[in-house]
Amino acid sequence: MMARSYRWPQPLKDQPQRFWFGGDYNPDQWPEEVWDEDIRLMQQAKVNVVSLGIFSWSNIQPSEFRWNFGWLDRIIDKLGRAGIAVDLANATASPPLWLTNKHPEILWRDERGDIVWPGARQHWRPTSPIMRHYALELSRAMAEHYKDNPYVVAWHVSNEYGCHNLYDYSDDAQEAFRAWCKRKYGTIEHVNDAWGTNFWSQRMTDFDQIILPRFIGEGNFTNPGKLLDFKRFSSDALKDFYIAERDALAQITPDIPLTTNFMVSAFGVDIDYDDWSSEVDFLSNDHYFTPGDAMLDEMAYSASLCDGFARKHPWWLMENSTAAVNWRPINYRKQPGQLERDAMVHVAMGADAVCYFQWRQSKAGAEKYHSAMVSHAGEHSQNFKDVCKLGSDLQTLADAGVLGTTLQRARVAVLFDRQSQFASEHTATPTQQVRHAYEPVQWFRALLDLGVTADMVPPTLEWEEYEAVVVPSMMMIDQAMADRLRAYAEAGGKVLVTYASGIVDEHDHVWLGGYPGAIRDLVGVRIEEFAPMGNDFDGTPESLQLSNGAVAHDWADVITSVEPDTQVLATYVDKPWTGMDGVPALTVHEFGQGKAAYIGCRLGREGLVRSLPAVCEALGFELPELADTGSDGQLAIATDGGTQRSSNVADNRLLITKRVAKDGKSFTFVFNRVFEPVSVATDGHVVISNNCEIQGSNLELAPNGFAVIAQ
Ligand code: GAL
Repeated sequence: MMARSYRWPQPLKDQPQRFWFGGDYNPDQWPEEVWDEDIRLMQQAKVNVVSLGIFSWSNIQPSEFRWNFGWLDRIIDKLGRAGIAVDLANATASPPLWLTNKHPEILWRDERGDIVWPGARQHWRPTSPIMRHYALELSRAMAEHYKDNPYVVAWHVSNEYGCHNLYDYSDDAQEAFRAWCKRKYGTIEHVNDAWGTNFWSQRMTDFDQIILPRFIGEGNFTNPGKLLDFKRFSSDALKDFYIAERDALAQITPDIPLTTNFMVSAFGVDIDYDDWSSEVDFLSNDHYFTPGDAMLDEMAYSASLCDGFARKHPWWLMENSTAAVNWRPINYRKQPGQLERDAMVHVAMGADAVCYFQWRQSKAGAEKYHSAMVSHAGEHSQNFKDVCKLGSDLQTLADAGVLGTTLQRARVAVLFDRQSQFASEHTATPTQQVRHAYEPVQWFRALLDLGVTADMVPPTLEWEEYEAVVVPSMMMIDQAMADRLRAYAEAGGKVLVTYASGIVDEHDHVWLGGYPGAIRDLVGVRIEEFAPMGNDFDGTPESLQLSNGAVAHDWADVITSVEPDTQVLATYVDKPWTGMDGVPALTVHEFGQGKAAYIGCRLGREGLVRSLPAVCEALGFELPELADTGSDGQLAIATDGGTQRSSNVADNRLLITKRVAKDGKSFTFVFNRVFEPVSVATDGHVVISNNCEIQGSNLELAPNGFAVIAQ
């Protein structure tokens, strides 16, 4: 079947279009008496959708030839009559024991070949034809049974593919990997070339000599080309399984939009979601907060990446938590106001649906300590009050016209590249401290500190439309990407490339002649070796001072020459005998009508904040002026023209985004990023707010406060 085009779930008959608001609902964990209570509370909270049946396989099909739709029919009917729509799962995420007992060969295996037993969830292998048979049978049965149900508005296909079963080392996987390699490379010779198998006597003469990157002994190193392809294959194997499930449903219910919930976050899973994003009708994401200082920024970063994957179509926040999760070693609570603030960060970045895991907090099972919309404390709790406030604020936002508006494009695109992340994860690299995924989030945060909200985008998106593009530790740059970067700069684009970029091609083969071989001419520097830093031996360099006062950690490039038209903005300052003193650290090179900056070391958020003003100036990229808070703490910033996205005045204590309607109407989302009050002058109308005092045209945003302003 063809890739899908965008389709958003439509409201129930005679209901207006609203933000979808609700959560995963597991009524089969509760006696039926609780269901009416659930519905009463859902109505009170203005919940209008629930995701149903995600882990209900054993209750829907209690044995191979017995089906039990009765309970599901009853709850769907109750919900629908109460005006609550259903995002229905095809229920295949967790196979029942009758199936695993009959067919233990569907269980996945770890890299040592050990079986992963049932006892939790997602204990199935994506390449098993038997698992596929049963999952498709269930999908078809679900679709047949609910095809005319007026309350089902979307299909929730499986759940978080690959959360637990991404890397499977079973014989089924091996066979599928061989077939995948055959499709990709055609001949074994091409595989040999791609994987560089003349190294360590790994040459293969036939596809049946391809073995999975199974356990090779502690401390040994797998062939990097094979590992890279195994990661690509593993993402594809799950995608194939998803497509099979999706198509089984779509054949029977062509009018019901489908999605599957992604897990996009700053350090998310090894799945190529950009590649998956054209296979869903609408994108949905599960996001759980990162406790601590990065909480708000990381949320905005991940939500922006979803907006990028969704190509600026509205997307669905399928899961987040009202308060603590239960799966970290320490499960921090949320502070007052964070429940609504967090939901709004996703809305600010283009989400038109806010849902939670889960509706009612479980009383038994592995997730009983995980927060929910109705907590153990019940309806008489601050948590439920906050949920109700959010429900009514989302309604107010919809009434004001926010639904369907698009996130205004930022001036800067920061690239996130799954392929570079795959390549940088190999265990034999210059330093294990450097992975691609670390860098984009540091840039996103540093740019916020400088008053710029960037867009996070995958390389496949048209980032050429941005004024500047950041290429952060993008280790893998193939010929096509190198050509795009060159063409962009030639036409006047501003490129910011960091260390550990452009080192290898799509097969993880090094571009020769000096790093970054893929784009040496563009950045106008030549690197002969790397200078990683660390403290695992006494006397090794742990950091490196730059002449501009910034400090580098973990990685510095030894730039040995620069082009005559490369401007050196900062060098390293070190003892003469180290060979690093005076080596260029930050450079800018003219290229056609545009320019390319090179940042030759890991500066982290702080070092970037210190260095970027000079780099941007040399690039001709104007950073906004940071607003002067004045003696009374009052900011002279107006949110109409004065947002960080569109004007030259910004406040780095705020996160600001703008959603715009086709008719020019716009909504500015303003969040306090710091733990002190921030006041903002606005000439717009405040649609909703929280932890925020409105005095005339002034907003006083307390910590965790936000406001949405209409213009
Ligand atoms: C997700 C999952 C949910 C629930 C949640 C808890 O990964 O989809 O079913 O387990 O995490 O945070």
